[in-house]
Amino acid sequence: MRIGVLTGGGDAPGLNAAIRAVVKRCEKYGYEVVGIRYGWAGMLKKDVIKLTYKDVKDTINRGGTILKTSRTNPLKQPNGIEMVSKNFKELGLDALIAIGGDDTLSVAKALSEAGLKVVGIPKTIDNDVSETDATIGFDTAVNTAMRIIENLRDTAESHERVIVVEIMGRYAGWIALNSGLAAGADLILIPEEPFKIKDVTEFVKRKVAMGERSILIVVAEGALIADYKGPITKDTSVDQFGHVRLGGIGEFLAKKIREELGVETRAITPAHIVRGGSPTAFDRLMATRYGIAAVDLVRDGKFGVMVALRGGEIVTVPLSKALSKSKNVTPNLYEEAKTFFE
Ligand code: F6P
Repeated sequence: MRIGVLTGGGDAPGLNAAIRAVVKRCEKYGYEVVGIRYGWAGMLKKDVIKLTYKDVKDTINRGGTILKTSRTNPLKQPNGIEMVSKNFKELGLDALIAIGGDDTLSVAKALSEAGLKVVGIPKTIDNDVSETDATIGFDTAVNTAMRIIENLRDTAESHERVIVVEIMGRYAGWIALNSGLAAGADLILIPEEPFKIKDVTEFVKRKVAMGERSILIVVAEGALIADYKGPITKDTSVDQFGHVRLGGIGEFLAKKIREELGVETRAITPAHIVRGGSPTAFDRLMATRYGIAAVDLVRDGKFGVMVALRGGEIVTVPLSKALSKSKNVTPNLYEEAKTFFE
């Protein structure tokens, strides 16, 4: 058997751990592994490398992806699916393991519906893939963001400033909420709960009146202002999956607070810093289990599915089910968090 493996979409810490486990499990069964470079772009161009355990052995602690990645969408290319199917055959692949978020996995689903043997592994720092408790990279991103927010607490306290930290996560507030809570932020704003500017300035005013002069506000990059036309974006261009580049809400909010209340503010945007770095033990271990389970699905002839984590167990989910909706922060979870926003 000859198995292809690719990583698509934004990189995430833990991808190399998953690739490593795929290669190791394949070697156990005597399967050959072909790494497809640059995600789906590599399937369109037949940009591949042979992988042996020697190539991946020492990568479990490395962030990013040794296979490189891209946001190329074959569904947006003329005859993209036909081209990938043709290359799949020409490369002599028996199956393909696609490691990615909802974008990459939506291509995997389309290919599977077109008859290709594909298995998915969920990855994204955003943690917004349904039917799984966690995606590769999320835990590391939360820990990295938590440390950044904690560092900002020190400087906010010393200078008695309001600091607004903008955290990645696209249309889901998972990283902002979890890292903000873990770092003891004073207020966390997420896309799932649109907010009014006035409520934020009133909040800061109340805190200042109580004698608190250093205030830490975490805002998810996709957070929505009620009655505003949508999230704040860098520009209007979209990628091949139709996503705009989010960003700017932190600056916007810091300026509003400064103008309204005359207090000193700073806006910090760690952006891609939360996507890099060495994966946490949790991400390394989960990615390793995902890699093993994905190869076992190939061995058992189960395709059109992805591996997932549920209550500590690795389970199998149809791609169609996992992609039917995105996973967002629930009102209950946000309500719980609000305990700390008084
Ligand atoms: O999906 C992961 C993610 O990091 C999002 O949180 C963010 O909005 C986006 O990717 C950034 O994309 P890019 O790396 O293309 O700028």
